[in-house]
Amino acid sequence: SADETTILVERRGNIGLITLNRPKALNALNRQLAAETVASLRDFDADERIGAIVLTGSPRAFAAGADIEEMATVRFTDFYMDDFLAAWDGLRGVSKPIVAAVAGYALGGGCELALMCDIVIASEDAQFGQPEIKLGILPGIGGSQRIARSAGKALAMDLVLTGRNMDAREAKAAGLVSRVVPADQLLHEAIETAHVIAGYNAPSVKMAKEAVNRAFETPLAEGLRAERLLFQAAFATEGQKEGMEAFVAKRAPVFRGR
Ligand code: CAA
Repeated sequence: SADETTILVERRGNIGLITLNRPKALNALNRQLAAETVASLRDFDADERIGAIVLTGSPRAFAAGADIEEMATVRFTDFYMDDFLAAWDGLRGVSKPIVAAVAGYALGGGCELALMCDIVIASEDAQFGQPEIKLGILPGIGGSQRIARSAGKALAMDLVLTGRNMDAREAKAAGLVSRVVPADQLLHEAIETAHVIAGYNAPSVKMAKEAVNRAFETPLAEGLRAERLLFQAAFATEGQKEGMEAFVAKRAPVFRGR
């Protein structure tokens, strides 16, 4: 029902953990889940104590896609005038790194949500795919674009046109997934990764994410220029002084929030 929350939100030291929690629907992404997930991501993004965010689902499903029941009777004009998938665009405004920990099904919008995250860690049993074509539709929150850009046309066309599933190994080989780990280590690995990132110089982490994202949006010369300016900007941070002084003094650096 609408009064139950669709996600669990926890803080673990300097990282935020968001767990998609609609187990009976394999975490299908309905309106409420989209609103709650994006709102929590933004809250963590605005919280100075948080340095990175982990987004996960259940062992059976990261998310089995947009909620088909909710969409079944929607007509074009309603969807166009009230584009409820647009909520997910809010993820692009999150400047802190998001680590997706993916087990089980990551299908349709679930696969697309994983691909919106910055680092994707998959369990060996994860299944990725864009099965929308089987429902008479096509991907709607970035699958056709992000798979084509990250993995190339061949795999994008194959997945989007056939709707077949791809296992974690294939997704890793294609460059859609950063790491594959045994299922029982998935959350630990994702949280450790987030902790490592959260321990670094926060402004440089933000700049680094911005720099990599530029690669998907600009010609090479502009991306290189943006990277160089961000690199130079890092020298305006206390963390750069601390990181380099610590290296020279052969001690561990202690980074502050900014
Ligand atoms: N939306 C709504 N409910 C869903 C769902 C979804 N995407 N995926 C699963 N469920 C529900 C099922 O209806 C079922 O509910 P009941 O128990 O009430 O019947 C429950 O979750 C468990 O699912 P199954 O019984 O089907 O479990 P299974 O193990 O037999 O199959 C599965 C698992 C292969 C993932 C299958 O559930 C499935 O094919 N799901 C749909 C996948 C899909 O087509 N996703 C794309 C959605 S469209 C989209 O995402 C558009 C976009 O780009 C934004």
